[in-house]
Amino acid sequence: MTNRPQVLRTVAALRRAMTPYRKAGRGIALVPTMGALHAGHLKLVAEARKRARRVVVSIFVNPTQFAPTEDFGSYPRTFDADMKALTALKVDAVWAPTVAEMYPEGFATRVAPEGAALAGLEDKFRPHFFGGVATVVSKLFTQVQPDFALFGQKDYQQLRVVTQMAKDLDLPLKVIGIPTVREKDGLALSSRNVYLSQAERAVAPTLHRVLKTSAQRIKRGEPIEMVMEEGASDIRHAGFTLDYLEARHALSLKPVASVKDGPIRLLVAAKIGKTRLIDNLAV
Ligand code: PAJ
Repeated sequence: MTNRPQVLRTVAALRRAMTPYRKAGRGIALVPTMGALHAGHLKLVAEARKRARRVVVSIFVNPTQFAPTEDFGSYPRTFDADMKALTALKVDAVWAPTVAEMYPEGFATRVAPEGAALAGLEDKFRPHFFGGVATVVSKLFTQVQPDFALFGQKDYQQLRVVTQMAKDLDLPLKVIGIPTVREKDGLALSSRNVYLSQAERAVAPTLHRVLKTSAQRIKRGEPIEMVMEEGASDIRHAGFTLDYLEARHALSLKPVASVKDGPIRLLVAAKIGKTRLIDNLAV
């Protein structure tokens, strides 16, 4: 029989549980999530399993990264199903604190990332977001003290921000980015895909299709600005409200004018109906 992961609800219980893990050696890997787990999250867990003796998954819907107008209250919460999936993957522990445990009365410190966090992509449309992410992720890192932390390339700007934060704060762990898991038609798996109506779901793969054709065109040497303009127009014609479609330097996320400016990442965010989707692809 497979053992259910131990569920830890307080920082004190987490610390007690991590001490023998650390002594056992060969590492602790952490996969931070907000739950509502899908095959994308589970890929991170499987990759964590390969790298470390002990795997810890955090499940915490972090209020500080949601704006008051966003979906914190209605964000999908599926703890029992999540536990089943994590048991099957032989996860050792699930770190699932309450909001009051993570942010007790009097909490007054925030991590304020700059650089990639101010690239004018997600930050422009969700100004709360990276401060909330950096604050909670730095807490998760100091709580669990993992040797590895795995993040999806799906949230590419987040991956860059967290990687830089770990470096800047001299946190002794390795941040690992894992390629995006997609549906057969190219749509990136996301906990928010459950919000899509049937008609919206049919249109949603447009984002990946445009990223793919745009990357091919840029690789062939077509001018980036023209390719981005045509891609934007395709996305709008499919029925999306486009927040951005941009070609950026893959590490700094600074704007790029040509393929000579370094490795390029294409990043997109767009709303279909009430659902906001993001995706990205390497050129
Ligand atoms: P969440 O959206 O639950 O995502 C948890 C992790 O799963 C992130 O690293 C994300 O990039 C990864 N992920 C999501 N969809 C994926 C897919 N289709 N393929 C591969 N990986 C995927 O991102 C967050 O939570 C939060 O911001 C968090 C980092 C937990 C901080 O609160």
